Formats: sequence, C-alpha cells, structure tokens
Amino acid sequence: MDVNREIQTNLSGHTVIVTGGTRGIGLGIVRVLARAGAELMVTGRKRERLERVAQELTAVGVPHRTLQADVARSETSSAVVAATLEAFGKIDGLVANAQSFRPVTKLEDVKESDFDLVLETGPKGTLFLMQAVLPSMRERGRGRIVTFGSSMGNTGVPGYGPYSAAKEAVRSLTRTAAREWGRYGITVNCVCPASVAHRMPIADEGSERAKAFAEMYADHPLGRDGDPEDDIAPAVTFLLSDASQYLTGQTFMVDGGGIMRA
Ligand SMILES: NC(=O)c1ccc[n+]([C@@H]2O[C@H](COP(=O)([O-])OP(=O)(O)OC[C@H]3O[C@@H](n4cnc5c(N)ncnc54)[C@H](OP(=O)(O)O)[C@@H]3O)[C@@H](O)[C@H]2O)c1
Repeated sequence: MDVNREIQTNLSGHTVIVTGGTRGIGLGIVRVLARAGAELMVTGRKRERLERVAQELTAVGVPHRTLQADVARSETSSAVVAATLEAFGKIDGLVANAQSFRPVTKLEDVKESDFDLVLETGPKGTLFLMQAVLPSMRERGRGRIVTFGSSMGNTGVPGYGPYSAAKEAVRSLTRTAAREWGRYGITVNCVCPASVAHRMPIADEGSERAKAFAEMYADHPLGRDGDPEDDIAPAVTFLLSDASQYLTGQTFMVDGGGIMRA
C-alpha cells in the first residue's frame, strides 16, 4: 500500500468559472475555491459587488478575473469563456450557480415574463455556459461542471412553480450533458443546496420571520440552515476535484437531509 497516495481534493492551479459569485452561495464557493488553490473567473451583474469580490481576492493574492455578465444571454456566456481562456489559457471547472428569481406567485397568476426570466437564467443560461466551456474541456480531455437545482423541484412548494420547473430542467440537462460528454473526460453533476439565511436575514427574535425560519428547521435532520462556505462550497469543491472522477449525471442534495421531510 502506498500510504503517501492522497485523495485528490486539491484544486491548486485549477481554473474555475463561478457564475453569480458575488453573494450568497456563489460567494461562499468563491472563497472556498480560493482557499483550495484555484484561479477564478467570477461573474455577476452588479459591478460594485464584483469589485468587492475582486478586492477580497486581491488582498489574499488569489489569481482571478471578474466579468459583468448576465447569464441569460448566450453571447455573454461566450464572452465569459473567452475572457477566462485569455487570462488563464484553460478551463478546468464551471460552477453554473447564477439564477434570477421572481417573487412567490401562485401558479394561476404566473405571467409569461415570470416564466421567461427563470428559464432564461436557469436552464438556458446553464446550457449556454456548458456549451461555451465544452470545446476547451474536450480538447484537454478533462472537465468538471457543477449545475444548480433545487429541492423545490421535487417537493412542488406552492408559489414557486416556474422556479421549480426551471431548476428541474437544469437537472435534466445535467444528465444529458453527463451522457453526451462523459467520454471526453467531462463530469457533470447537480447540487441542490439549502442556505436561505443570506436571502432571508432573521429579524428580531420572536418576529414572524424568525418564527417562520424556526418552523422551517423544526423537523429537519440537522436542525439548521446550511452555510455557504462551511456546508455548500465543500461539496462543490469535491465535485470539481479528481476525487469525484467516477461521479457524473447525479444530483446531490446538499441540504442537511432536509429533502427527507417532504
Ligand atoms: N439559497 C438556497 O437555499 C437555494 C436553494 C435551492 C437552490 N438554490 C440555487 O443555488 C444557487 C445560488 O443561490 P443563492 O441563494 O446563493 O442566490 P442569490 O443569493 O440570489 O445569489 C445569486 C447570485 O447570482 C447572481 N445573479 C443573479 N442573476 C444573475 C444573472 N442573470 N446573471 C448573472 N448573475 C446573476 C447574483 O449577483 P447579481 O445580482 O449582481 O447579478 C448573485 O451573485 C441558485 O442557482 C439557486 O437557484 C439556492
């Protein structure tokens, strides 16, 4: 036995694109990938948020670029990939995290524009990016793609119809990409995270919002919300590494077992 042979979870020198890496789960992923040694292309729509991330990465000496880009547009996906290749010469991983939302709406009131937004930023945006990174990954015979679904697609939570449908479409595309591109050394997996505190900051103890939050975790196996850096990003890091090389086309519920309540 070779006791020096390590499980390959290190991402030293790996070039990874993280879409929507300026806040929430995406920002947590950026921070953890930076610690794992990756060089990063971070995208988002808001310039000031991108500048904050760039300052943070510069301060710790992590090679990076940021690009203001809306994932809903196919031409910006190609621009993200072109800028990444120009800066780093290769692409090892894509984390297709960005997704826009609409306010909670009952199915009977959903408008075409509500549906268009989640489809454009979810499955279409994910597909355009996957297509854009494909040539570079195929040429090198290795690639890791991580997409984002939602447990709401499984549970049909009222008020989230278009969002849930869009996230299920992402999971479906994940499986097709895994089958079509596996022979090129590319793995494609989907993460369904649970980390809501950054979207729904808990107000004063005893408030309605705090009660709703407590109820959400009352019958949860681990009894708590996921943390972007400590709970979600490590799973994504694993899926970007060589340690996950025999996993593809799968959905990972990174939700502390919350899906089991449904
Ligand atoms: N949080 C959860 O519990 C949860 C549960 C299930 C699934 N998910 C999935 O996990 C992923 C991250 O969720 P999150 O809660 O961290 O979201 P979030 O807090 O809303 O952050 C979304 C990120 O994506 C960027 N973004 C949004 N729309 C974009 C667009 N059209 N083009 C480019 N960037 C865009 C945002 O920055 P700008 O606004 O500056 O563009 C931001 O950086 C999403 O795919 C979401 O569907 C999250």
